[in-house]
Amino acid sequence: MKINFKLNGKNVEFDSAPGTRLVDLLKTSAKIMSLRTSCYRGICRGCSLFFNGDLVSSCLIPAFQARDAEIITFEGLSKFDEINDIIKGFEDTGYHPCEFCRPGKIMTIHSILENYVEPDEHQILEAFEGINCSCTDKSTLIKSVKAGAYYRRRRRRARSI
Ligand code: FES
Ligand code: FES
Repeated sequence: MKINFKLNGKNVEFDSAPGTRLVDLLKTSAKIMSLRTSCYRGICRGCSLFFNGDLVSSCLIPAFQARDAEIITFEGLSKFDEINDIIKGFEDTGYHPCEFCRPGKIMTIHSILENYVEPDEHQILEAFEGINCSCTDKSTLIKSVKAGAYYRRRRRRARSI
């Protein structure tokens, strides 16, 4: 079956077999390389993307549900200056997610910064709940998201002047 949707700002159409998951369609047909799949159960969140504005695990979405949707992956987000707020937060605090996790973590942080102007520890940890990562400690993660939020607020203030 044919499925049409908007992917990172462009109208696209792909053939999809029944039962295909959105993440697999995007990886194989659209060659979206930032999507990581390790659990296929909505836990690791390496397959995160924005689906009509909401951050979702694309392994849980049947491909046919993407019809007429607007999808933004890490590749799409990377074209916006807002991603620099998050990267600066990483640099300021020495937070270094591995290459496997980096896209999904940046997508998660972007979602936090869109939802909370000044996210607190609880809101940050809630957004990352279930993501297993033993290589970076939680306090550095929290500091880096808060630093990213600071840069995001500065960007918004500059825009409103
Ligand atoms: S593959 Fe782990 S959440 Fe999708
Ligand atoms: S940052 Fe990738 S496993 Fe921890």
